[in-house]
Amino acid sequence: MVPTHSDGIHAVEPTTDSSNGPRELKYLPAEFYASRLSDAAKDLQPSAILSLFPLETTPGLISLLAGKPNGSTFPFTSFQYSVRSPVDPSQEQTIRLDGAQLSESLQYGRSAGQADLLEWAYGLQEYAHGRRRGEGWRISVGNGSQDMINKAVWATVNRGDAVLLETPMYSGVLPMFQALHCEMIDDPYYFLYYGAATRPPSYFSLERDEAEVGRVLRFDSLSKILSSGLRVGFISAPEPFVTVIDSHTATSNLHPSSLTQMVAYTLLSSWGYDTLMLHSAHVSGFYKAKRDVFERAMRKHLDGLAEWTPPEAGMFYWFKLLLHAPGVPETSLEEDSEAVIRTKAVEKGVLALPGTVFLPSGRKTAYVRAAFSLLSDEAINEALKRLREVVLDARGTSE
Ligand SMILES: Cc1ncc(COP(=O)(O)O)c(C=O)c1O
Repeated sequence: MVPTHSDGIHAVEPTTDSSNGPRELKYLPAEFYASRLSDAAKDLQPSAILSLFPLETTPGLISLLAGKPNGSTFPFTSFQYSVRSPVDPSQEQTIRLDGAQLSESLQYGRSAGQADLLEWAYGLQEYAHGRRRGEGWRISVGNGSQDMINKAVWATVNRGDAVLLETPMYSGVLPMFQALHCEMIDDPYYFLYYGAATRPPSYFSLERDEAEVGRVLRFDSLSKILSSGLRVGFISAPEPFVTVIDSHTATSNLHPSSLTQMVAYTLLSSWGYDTLMLHSAHVSGFYKAKRDVFERAMRKHLDGLAEWTPPEAGMFYWFKLLLHAPGVPETSLEEDSEAVIRTKAVEKGVLALPGTVFLPSGRKTAYVRAAFSLLSDEAINEALKRLREVVLDARGTSE
């Protein structure tokens, strides 16, 4: 039996060796990554100003370094926000940012992210994946996981490189890819798992069983559990990659927003990991209920007209339209959902994404992706009823 936290997240034990004592993980040396960095990453020079920032905290030192605006000139005197309690949704908790937290929220910060939020993220990786500091990896915070994925691809891929990708894959990263040398695990739906079986362990956690660690780049996101508009996500990856990513951040956007990092940190630290897990269990329960409504509507309207496996996490259905009736000779629509989804479905008043946009090759496919996160039960039923008509029309049959 795999030990789990109360919500099914693996309670990862320290890795042990044959003598049953804690085992130090062996990690790949920095030189391993030197040849795996892209040419652009190798050429990137650390920002002259930002590399001196850590010295600013030296006691007694007078810093004439950074062009930080004087916070006393900013008009904000406090920020306050309220959240529902995951323990008792009828209770509201109000958190106020003032004093040192307000100053930090309003000021420039470090490229890798705000120190307290980073500390919290290291704790999360230990809580959820059993990964500790001192194993050759570190964390950098970005404007959502998308920002970190983009920077990681930039750090590893040269124009014209070959790349191995799984399909279907998140279409948001396809435009970035040319090649990749590490396993990159984009896991923004990790906390939205609602399958019946125990939550599968992450690659970041499984890697601990390898002879040496350092091949997984993990991307986490607060978008699906706290707010997508906060734009807070983070990468946990081998140190040499994160160093490049920090330099990239320093030259592109300096750092992710101090204010939204502070909002995330103050909320998460007031909750603690167990309450976050309770909250994420509520969120995944919400999507599971929507999944169940969608499943019933799929069976009612698309039975025999589509093939699918119900999702066990997240907010999407991925299904194959059976665009020609059994026994009917293949038509040009066979294996191509795009033609019907982009035209006929829209005419009937239903919008979805043709599966081709999730295939790195861009080849034709009969698959479709449908998001159910925002829809009422009625809207889900109506959408699938309309899709039924679209498939029947494409087949040239009325029933
Ligand atoms: C699979 C996947 N990865 C990454 C992202 C980007 O998430 P973030 O909001 O953290 O940038 C999304 C957003 O929908 C997604 O679906």
